[in-house]
Amino acid sequence: MLNNIVLIGFMGSGKTSVGRILAKAINSVLIDIDLLIESNFGMSISDIFSIFGEKYFREYEKYICFFIKNNIKNAVISCGGGTPMVFDVKKLGNVVYLDATLDDIIYRVGDASNRPKFSDDVNKLYNSRIEIYKNSADIVVESKNSLDSVANEILIKLNTKGLANVCTS
Ligand code: S3P
Repeated sequence: MLNNIVLIGFMGSGKTSVGRILAKAINSVLIDIDLLIESNFGMSISDIFSIFGEKYFREYEKYICFFIKNNIKNAVISCGGGTPMVFDVKKLGNVVYLDATLDDIIYRVGDASNRPKFSDDVNKLYNSRIEIYKNSADIVVESKNSLDSVANEILIKLNTKGLANVCTS
């Protein structure tokens, strides 16, 4: 059985930053899908979008998900904001939705130059995804407090549901 902790949520919800803290807390590693795509291509996400197009990016994103599903256990997986739209993330492990308001997200993202989807109608994109994030999640954690407290709340909620695979020794 897979027991990865899988972080999902809109761009800027803190998936990578919280993931780093979580991975350290449970003596595991963070696997960041965007960074994995960038390192495999040797290109930034925005270059991949502009040179190959979004469709190609999504296919590669799916390919990475299949790889994770088949090969990775006990890790913290930080998804891209669009990953749950193209792959059933429940197949990757226990899913945590980092819920942030659009106002907070816009404030946090700031320079969106490596986030090509941020130039779309962000309001519409955000609203179109909320239900999918919620439906994909085993637990939902509000991502408005400090990164440490968000990570801590995730572990508590996963534990309460009997889902955590915490090896803190
Ligand atoms: C995307 C989010 C990005 C990245 C790509 C597409 C999206 O990840 O995968 O730019 O469709 O929401 P982050 O959520 O890590 O910014």
